[in-house]
Amino acid sequence: MIILKSPGEVENIRAACRIVAGALARLRETIKPGITTKSLDAAAEEYIIKHGGKPAFKGYLGYPNSLCASINEVVVHGIPSGRVVKEGEIIGLDLGAVVDGFYGDAAITVPVGDISPDLKKLLEVTEASLYRGIKKAVVGNRVSDISNAVQVFAESFGYSVVREFVGHGIGRSLHEEPQVPNFGPPGQGPRLKAGMTIAIEPMINMGKPGTVIMKDGWTAVTVDRMPSAHFEHTIAITENGPVILTAE
Ligand code: MF3
Ligand code: CO
Repeated sequence: MIILKSPGEVENIRAACRIVAGALARLRETIKPGITTKSLDAAAEEYIIKHGGKPAFKGYLGYPNSLCASINEVVVHGIPSGRVVKEGEIIGLDLGAVVDGFYGDAAITVPVGDISPDLKKLLEVTEASLYRGIKKAVVGNRVSDISNAVQVFAESFGYSVVREFVGHGIGRSLHEEPQVPNFGPPGQGPRLKAGMTIAIEPMINMGKPGTVIMKDGWTAVTVDRMPSAHFEHTIAITENGPVILTAE
């Protein structure tokens, strides 16, 4: 069942989303060679709590941290650790917060110092694919119109789309219906309605689409160990078009 939100409930979700966006903006500025992913997790958690929220991921299905920190070939769900980030790497930062029982969820992938032109392109295209998807999140379209727009755009650059993880409805739970895949033919799935709130989150690989989960049960890496990027926004579908809630 897809839960439609009242304008008031959308504002509740926006409050959580604002904290997530603010924290990610802070983390983006903090990233530099030599910093550990654990320190990024601590900074994210501190920011969320200071602004009146609670980390959404910590304890979710046993996930141990507030932040997912996914370096290079890690697609999603990298667990923060003593690992330092190095010049030339890319790091995905995925963060969720809860405020008054409502969730917000967003992700960015950022360069560490100077990165190669190939990686720069991967980041640009992945972020742009998210916006291609958001543009299709209009009343009357179907869920897979979003999916198809992401896929067609990303694949036109020779990249591949991860199949094993998808976007999702969001509200009083981190994950609600509908699932929002980043691939598939257009014109399928539930019709989009005003009051739907969804997280769109393309994960785009430079090489093959496949992923493998490491022994920790969380860290998802590309099967060919080529780099992967991830961007995510929580949005609301309104009669006036899509509204990005995870904006500062
Ligand atoms: N943005 C991811 C998602 O939508 C993050 C979940 S990580 C978890 O599922 F730890 F909470 F599972
Ligand atoms: Co998400």
